[in-house]
Amino acid sequence: MLQLGSQLDEEQRRSFLQAADRQGDRLRRLIEQLLSVARLESHVEPLTLSPVSVEQVARHVVDELRASAHGHTFDLRFDPSLPLIETDEAKVHQILSNLVENALKYSPPDTRVTIRGARMGDGVVVSVEDEGRGIPEEAQERVFDRFYQVDSSATRSVGGTGLGLYICRKLADLLGGRVWLERSGPEGTVFRLWIPGVPPTGRPVAEAPTPTVAELSR
Ligand SMILES: Nc1ncnc2c1ncn2[C@@H]1O[C@H](COP(=O)(O)OP(=O)(O)OP(=O)(O)O)[C@@H](O)[C@H]1O
Ligand SMILES: [Mg+2]
Repeated sequence: MLQLGSQLDEEQRRSFLQAADRQGDRLRRLIEQLLSVARLESHVEPLTLSPVSVEQVARHVVDELRASAHGHTFDLRFDPSLPLIETDEAKVHQILSNLVENALKYSPPDTRVTIRGARMGDGVVVSVEDEGRGIPEEAQERVFDRFYQVDSSATRSVGGTGLGLYICRKLADLLGGRVWLERSGPEGTVFRLWIPGVPPTGRPVAEAPTPTVAELSR
């Protein structure tokens, strides 16, 4: 279309370029998601450990996604005494990014997305809470399945491929942690991520404590 060059006015040219830019972003994201799935499923994804501030990671995620928020406000509530934990920062970032992206995508503009962080067991639990319409009860079991989308029709208003939560679960397993749907209803949805304070080597995933909500109630 841009080859039509002179037949386009400045406004049309800008709008085509913006559309091409958006398509490029979508394609890049899809390729990244597919590569993540391929690496995770073939167990070749290495862990790169360092002392990580989960609050810092959450703040970076929010800063990156602020531009794609439609008037949403972000509320970050982190326990100031949270310890640094020995984990893979890029993977924590990828999980939180997927959860916050969903919170933005599946809730109306001008609502609040709340991200809380607290201690749980020897690790840290982060919750991502939105004020969207929620996930129908019969679909709640399946949202972590590969390619599953509650509304997968071609006409659904938001894009995506149904890989985000599947990748979150695979990544959380790799960190020796857990990610789960805490609750969802007409008043909104809460997903939680628990990351252990020590790396998974020598610590089977099955030893992760059963999560409770008590530590997040303040
Ligand atoms: N916060 C939420 N509120 C309501 N529905 C949600 C929320 N998070 C996920 N879902 C539902 O779960 C489905 C699976 O989520 P997932 O992140 O795996 O895929 P996606 O967002 O559709 O696509 P992708 O993340 O690959 O771009 C979504 O399609 C949506 O129907
Ligand atoms: Mg998603």
